[in-house]
Amino acid sequence: MRSCTAGFFIVMTRALAALFALLFAAADSPQSIVKYRQASMKSMGGHMNAMSLVVKHQISSRADLEAHATAVHDVSRRLVEWFPAGSGPDQIRTEARPAIWQQLPEFKRVAAKLERESAKLAALAKQGDAKAFDEQFKVVSDTCSDCHDSFRVHD
Ligand code: HEC
Repeated sequence: MRSCTAGFFIVMTRALAALFALLFAAADSPQSIVKYRQASMKSMGGHMNAMSLVVKHQISSRADLEAHATAVHDVSRRLVEWFPAGSGPDQIRTEARPAIWQQLPEFKRVAAKLERESAKLAALAKQGDAKAFDEQFKVVSDTCSDCHDSFRVHD
């Protein structure tokens, strides 16, 4: 009987925790959402910039490439989630274009492409195939640009 009561409390506590998590998620302000996705994008930009110096042979050590490529891949995996409905330019100052929500399947397709191509990049870094890595780096970098050309406002 006692274990049954304890079980009930555990279930209730979990249900409450889930409810709070939901409420907190719903409480993210559009300002914070934009700040967060811009910071996340910038972090990928930092890793891409670091790798580009190696690809351009301005830095000779390739030792950090796997870490940078893996970071881009890990960060990119939830990219679409950073753009919930209600975080567009009609609601808040952002460089995200309304096209994201009007052409969501296309936006998701480019995001999935980044996830896929950055996984390949990380795998090539691990294998240590410099030539294949440098070619794949261009593919990843073009995928960033493809999305920006269609879905991001340029000043
Ligand atoms: C599927 C679409 C998509 C992909 C892929 C994508 N981005 Fe973005 N990126 C955006 C959008 C949309 C914005 C504008 C976000 C905003 O202002 O709210 C943005 C903004 C940025 C910014 C500016 C952040 C700021 O401080 O305002 C940088 C830097 C950036 N992206 C880098 C990258 C890099 C590097 C990659 C590839 C590794 C990449 N992005 C891939 C859609 C994408």
